Amino acid sequence: MTTEEPGGASSASGDERSPTGPDDGRVPPGPDGYPVVGSLVEYAGDPFDFEREVHREYGDVVSKLLDARDEAGHGMTDRQVRDEMMTLLLAGHETTALALTSTFFLLAQHGDVEATLVAELDRELDGEPPTVADVGDLPYLERVVKESMRLYPPVPGIVREPVEDDEIGGYHVPAGVTVGMSQHVVHRDPRWYDDPMAFRPERWTDEFERSLPRLAYFPFAAGPRRCIGDRFAMLEARLVLATILQEYHLELVSSPSLDLRPSITARPRNPVWMQVHERDGTQWEAAEMEAEASAD
Ligand code: HEM
Repeated sequence: MTTEEPGGASSASGDERSPTGPDDGRVPPGPDGYPVVGSLVEYAGDPFDFEREVHREYGDVVSKLLDARDEAGHGMTDRQVRDEMMTLLLAGHETTALALTSTFFLLAQHGDVEATLVAELDRELDGEPPTVADVGDLPYLERVVKESMRLYPPVPGIVREPVEDDEIGGYHVPAGVTVGMSQHVVHRDPRWYDDPMAFRPERWTDEFERSLPRLAYFPFAAGPRRCIGDRFAMLEARLVLATILQEYHLELVSSPSLDLRPSITARPRNPVWMQVHERDGTQWEAAEMEAEASAD
């Protein structure tokens, strides 16, 4: 997925620096000592001095990018590292946020699914915070996320350009044309999905998955340019859902329609408002919290 830098690229000349940035070429650290990510978008100085000195020891993504070497032993320029990081942030953040938004939106309207999911979490986690090691023991949770991304794929369509003439489904496709493929449309096709508009995580049995044609489900696209963050996204989404749902029920208090605004991602046109209720045994106790579960 290509992403455009908000605010556009900036040069290293002092005059064009963010007014909030320091003059010594470093990204200002946040309160926890980590660089403030927002500043990286605007900042014109050398943001990686800070990383070189402080961050490497944590073995995080930035450190790994700074350490990466190609076959000839060359590392990336700072600009390349920054661009890679922006791609990871922009490709990875909103997509996963949208997947979580639609999952909470669907759960709020399907109490039976939520109850089954919460029962699985209670049974397998026994009140402990979920860890990476636990997600394999939460098959219903995985089905919920898959079904949510079937109905609301965060990326609703992709395009490809054939390098040579081809024939697809009886249609002649000349080289160089733009071919669009829509997850949003294919995922709701009754040829592959029985009762396609229904939110039914139960449908995702191993047998069902084996029976699906390969590209009848492709939230992360396919081929050499498929998403490189797919496993990370699935892990992150499951951990976030398990952590929140163990303790809270999210009640939908805005429109029961997402009214999607298709673009590179499919965002709800309006904020999705949820009221958070603390879970206490079989009772939902209203908590004094309100969350905006939209990606805006
Ligand atoms: C639910 C979450 C996500 C969804 C639905 C998603 C979906 C996609 C799709 C459909 C593409 C292909 C776009 C195209 O072919 O035009 C893509 C590419 C990409 N994704 Fe994701 N993504 C998600 C999460 C992430 C995360 C968490 C990361 C990184 C941490 C990430 C990084 C990337 C990158 C770098 C590409 C470009 C790959 C390339 O062009 O070789 N994505 N993603």
